[in-house]
Amino acid sequence: MNGVHLMIPHKLPGMKPGTGFKPNPLVFLLFCLVAFTTGFFAGCAHASTESDLQGLPSLNEGSSGPSAKLKGSILVAYETKKGSTREVAEAIASEIRSCGWDATAMDIKGSPSPEEYDHVILGGPVYMGKIKEVRAYVQRHEEELKERLAGAFAVGMSFAVAEEEQQASGRKALDDAIAPMKATHLGYFAGRIDPAKLSLIEKGMIKMVKSPVGDFRDWDAIKAWAREVITDLKR
Ligand SMILES: Cc1cc2nc3c(=O)[nH]c(=O)nc-3n(C[C@H](O)[C@H](O)[C@H](O)COP(=O)(O)O)c2cc1C
Repeated sequence: MNGVHLMIPHKLPGMKPGTGFKPNPLVFLLFCLVAFTTGFFAGCAHASTESDLQGLPSLNEGSSGPSAKLKGSILVAYETKKGSTREVAEAIASEIRSCGWDATAMDIKGSPSPEEYDHVILGGPVYMGKIKEVRAYVQRHEEELKERLAGAFAVGMSFAVAEEEQQASGRKALDDAIAPMKATHLGYFAGRIDPAKLSLIEKGMIKMVKSPVGDFRDWDAIKAWAREVITDLKR
């Protein structure tokens, strides 16, 4: 069942009471026809691999086809320095789009307006224990975000190591960034350090703190979190 979730309800039309699953064939067939054409059974049609995600047309620009705004609009506003959080945000937006929402991933630097969307997800990388641009964005847009914040995520190497103390510092960075708000759904994702993208000073810092180096992003966990966030959103 590649990428499609089937949700079978307990009782289907055409079932006779007390007979278990013995539907009237004609009614059941009619129900199936209607159900499949209206998407009754369909979960999210997932882009199942990273390459699927990258192959989608302009992930950054949200959906623009005639089926856009089926369930409401979601802004995934992210901060990034070296690009890894942008890819996480785009994967989240893509996953949410595959569930029928109009989701757009946008860099916080472009000052996206929260009031133009029904819901907002915020995300940023942890640098030296802080997620600075998200913090500044929250301070600028607190009023609009209060009503709309559906989830927030942090990307950092503290989530790629086992030490609880380090993970706690990553979680605190996210709490601090979105304070005084709290989000029901918080995502903590191991990130990526590409030595080719680091300055000499950054290389020194990474060595000093003995950070793992490489790409630790878990795309399945990221997509699962995206689906979790939208489960309790009002359309
Ligand atoms: C100089 C430097 C400092 C970092 N400090 C932290 C940190 O304090 N906590 C953490 O979890 N990750 C830290 N990281 C790892 C980044 O959060 C991680 O590489 C992330 O994926 C970067 O996101 P970006 O590519 O979107 O900029 C640091 C990385 C660098 C290069």
